[in-house]
Amino acid sequence: MRLPSFLATASVLGLVSSVYGQIVSHTPSEGRGVRYSVNIPDATALTGTGPVYLQLEAPANMTWIALGQGADMTDGNIFIIYSAPDGNITLSPRNATGPFEPLYDPSIRAFLLEGSGIHHGLMTANIRCDDCMTLKNGDSLADKSSSWIWGITTGDPLNSANVSETIYKHDYHGIFTLDLSHAIGGNSANPFFMPTHRITDFTPFSSQRQIDDTLLHKKRIAHGVMTSVAFVLLFPNFALTLYIFPSRYTVAWIHAPLQAFAVLLALAGFALGVSTSMDLGEEGGYHPIMGYVAMAAVVLVQPILGIMQHIHFKRTGQKSFYGVAHRWLGRFISVLGIVTGGIGFHYAGSMNPDIPPASPIAYGIISGSMGVIYVLVIWWRRSRTKRKLAAECPPTIKKTTNRSDSTLVSELANVDASQEKSWQ
Ligand SMILES: *[C@@H]1O[C@H](CO)[C@@H](O)[C@H](O)[C@H]1NC(C)=O
Ligand SMILES: *[C@@H]1O[C@H](CO)[C@@H](O)[C@H](O)[C@H]1NC(C)=O
Ligand SMILES: *[C@@H]1O[C@H](CO)[C@@H](O)[C@H](O)[C@H]1NC(C)=O
Ligand SMILES: *[C@@H]1O[C@H](CO)[C@@H](O)[C@H](O)[C@H]1NC(C)=O
Repeated sequence: MRLPSFLATASVLGLVSSVYGQIVSHTPSEGRGVRYSVNIPDATALTGTGPVYLQLEAPANMTWIALGQGADMTDGNIFIIYSAPDGNITLSPRNATGPFEPLYDPSIRAFLLEGSGIHHGLMTANIRCDDCMTLKNGDSLADKSSSWIWGITTGDPLNSANVSETIYKHDYHGIFTLDLSHAIGGNSANPFFMPTHRITDFTPFSSQRQIDDTLLHKKRIAHGVMTSVAFVLLFPNFALTLYIFPSRYTVAWIHAPLQAFAVLLALAGFALGVSTSMDLGEEGGYHPIMGYVAMAAVVLVQPILGIMQHIHFKRTGQKSFYGVAHRWLGRFISVLGIVTGGIGFHYAGSMNPDIPPASPIAYGIISGSMGVIYVLVIWWRRSRTKRKLAAECPPTIKKTTNRSDSTLVSELANVDASQEKSWQ
């Protein structure tokens, strides 16, 4: 909502008081005691420019605490505070340009006010920001659902007066919304120091998402490992069981149960991936969408095609459309899964500098080797089959077997049903 109409509504409802201002605050439940508060003076709300007041409060046993404007690390200013050697607080306003360490930006006009400091184990930063009313996308800050991001790292105090201090990834972070119509009012030059403002604890009304970064990191690694093992190693190798152990029992007793196990592993990895993408707000990227497609294929389509082929084979002893589709879809899904994994490394890497550069390389090498092994095993089985047929069959029939594998099969079945039966 744009400011003027919203302000008019607020005035009619008597929400705007020129004498007593208002403050809204939010206490993230995963924030380990952090509280964020906002006040927008009347004059600023009226004109759309001017000072805005922010307060960050936290237990002193935190390394740093951050509050950012907007729903993303690119939307607005980020305010980071940490303990200073003189017992006060260092305020480091930073320019957010992406999901990595924001850098100190001296052009942001933000200042620490009276009342800031460390008292009784509590860090308090009272901040006046003179260019916080407009987000980078041009939206006004004063909105009925104004988004904010926060992040903290627990641990030893930084004790630094250096506003460019290097900070590492947060331990916990989140996003919340505030109805800033409850934050408008007053003309105090330090509303958090003068007890004239009404404070609304907006926590129960905020829509919020909170992420434990340690847990997120574990989920991400488990997701990567489980889905890679399933798609790069298990699905192709378990497909090869048909070629390696040609027997009438292979499908029912080896191939199907092993693939079912691989599907379960892929499903578990997929669930972790969905949870990760929800934490990151990235449900719609290439990687997640390709993942949905690959999972739908292995969970729904492949088992149905496989079972249909098996039923057909039991009845007729022959290959069917289902079998051919099952085989080619399987190959396609493996390739899709491997590519999806590669894109996944790209995703994770852009947000997570901790990922060792060797891991995507190892992934590529293992995927490539698996492709070579797959082709070699099939080639080996085919040439063996051909040799055997050549030894057993009259030359006229031998000629018809000399076709590509997808059409080869039914003819081979006619020629030598027992041979074919053994591996279908
Ligand atoms: C940090 O301080 C808060 C509040 O004083 C306390 O609840 C918490 O246990 C402390 N955390 C550590 C790691 O000392
Ligand atoms: C923030 O960084 C971006 C990209 O580096 C730059 O274009 C922009 O001017 C910076 N904003 C401020 C307020 O310095
Ligand atoms: C901390 O610094 C701010 C800004 O310079 C000042 O107003 C405040 O009084 C200081 N707090 C303490 C406890 O010295
Ligand atoms: C402040 O910290 C940055 C990043 O660690 C460093 O490059 C810079 O030299 C430090 N500045 C001072 C004055 O120590």
